[in-house]
Amino acid sequence: MLKLVVLISGTGSNLRALLDASADAEFPARVVAIGADRDADGLVLGEEYGVSTFSVPFTAYPDRDSWGDALIEEVRRWEPDLVVLSGLMRLVPPAVVDAFSPNLINTHPAYLPEFPGAHGVRDALAAGVTQTGASLIVVDNSVDGGPIIAQERIPVLPGDTESSLHDRIKPVERRLLIQAVLDIANSHLDLKEFARS
Ligand code: GRF
Repeated sequence: MLKLVVLISGTGSNLRALLDASADAEFPARVVAIGADRDADGLVLGEEYGVSTFSVPFTAYPDRDSWGDALIEEVRRWEPDLVVLSGLMRLVPPAVVDAFSPNLINTHPAYLPEFPGAHGVRDALAAGVTQTGASLIVVDNSVDGGPIIAQERIPVLPGDTESSLHDRIKPVERRLLIQAVLDIANSHLDLKEFARS
């Protein structure tokens, strides 16, 4: 059974999909803890699904590195096989990458390397592209520039707003994430092959 720690900042809708998948006895992975960098709305899912939660508030630390060290300590307590950044709206410092990568993955609402960063959906709309996408990557020390595990194109429709487009992207992110977790757990996907030397 693959043990997952999922880190969030927001509502955790992608996290909910993972929790729902984990509820199936046949699914070979379990979310063992949910962590956040703030008082994220998605932390309530811990209670709903009976999963432990923790918070390492970014603002409680003097700098990114000390926040990262505290995050590493909390995450390690759960001895995860895989750490999923599912809407963690924070760049993790190099120590976090060193501690967990390549078993540290991130979902992103654009077709990387197009539109990296915190506003992937907004930036795609502003650029006027006719298609964007969803990506799943291994986290490295770049901004959304890590090795791509899976990605899929999604059309931008006339009249799309940031929220309507994001609402169509998220289900694809979820599908890519759940499939990758399944493949990793079944040894059909080896993240070590994505590790950069
Ligand atoms: C996802 O689109 C994720 O890729 C992005 O933020 C969103 C998180 O949404 N970084 P949610 O919290 O899972 O609803």
